[in-house]
Amino acid sequence: MTSTHPRKLHPLPLRIMHWLNAITIFIMVGSGWKIYNDEVIFGWLTFPDALTIGTWAQHGLQWHFFGMWILVINGLAYLTYGVVTGRYRRMLLPLRWDDLLATVKDALHFSVAHADTTKYNAVQKLLYIGVIAVGILIVISGLTLWKPVQFSPMVTFFGSFQNVRLVHFFCMSAIVGFVVVHVALALLVPKTIVAMVGGGPFIDDPRPEVAGQEH
Ligand code: HEM
Repeated sequence: MTSTHPRKLHPLPLRIMHWLNAITIFIMVGSGWKIYNDEVIFGWLTFPDALTIGTWAQHGLQWHFFGMWILVINGLAYLTYGVVTGRYRRMLLPLRWDDLLATVKDALHFSVAHADTTKYNAVQKLLYIGVIAVGILIVISGLTLWKPVQFSPMVTFFGSFQNVRLVHFFCMSAIVGFVVVHVALALLVPKTIVAMVGGGPFIDDPRPEVAGQEH
């Protein structure tokens, strides 16, 4: 069949997974900061209590595990969905250096082209692929911190338990940095938020082999 199949830009399952993930990241970061404060990595850095979740560290840990299950299950569902429906191939690939440089050049001239909200520009693609990769690494490093004996090959891989803590911390920092930029860009183009809530415009998928797989 070569006919195209109209579907919403952001299908319902994708939207549910995106917003569930946003809430979960908020829980994970807030409770993670609570746990961090109990035994800081950097002497100069503690997070203000008002920004943490949980009354004390043990509470924070309970919130962290609660969020972890949602993050892992939702994350696996999102990864499977992205691969099986062809969404990653369609929306996030290909990522070309030339496109990346052109988008950065446009941004430096303050002409961020987001007229066509049905396609991600090269910087968006890079940020989304990057945050997905960091999301996988933060889960792996977190599982290693939780069960260092069972995940001992990971401790060996990263060099030491303390290094795993550092990796987990830097992944958190990258995700927080991503969220700040991501939300700022979304607020600059509010119709993208409207689309992530309501599904956005109907689009035709011109590629027959993936048409109709994602609604
Ligand atoms: C309140 C916070 C958030 C808002 C307002 C928001 C908003 C949006 C919007 C509007 C889009 C579509 C972008 C576009 O059409 O140009 C999007 C996509 C995306 N967001 Fe968020 N987001 C939030 C939190 C997060 C968080 C916490 C993460 C991950 C750590 C995240 C990861 C993603 C990814 C990976 C996509 C691409 C999804 C895909 O097309 O498969 N977002 N977000």
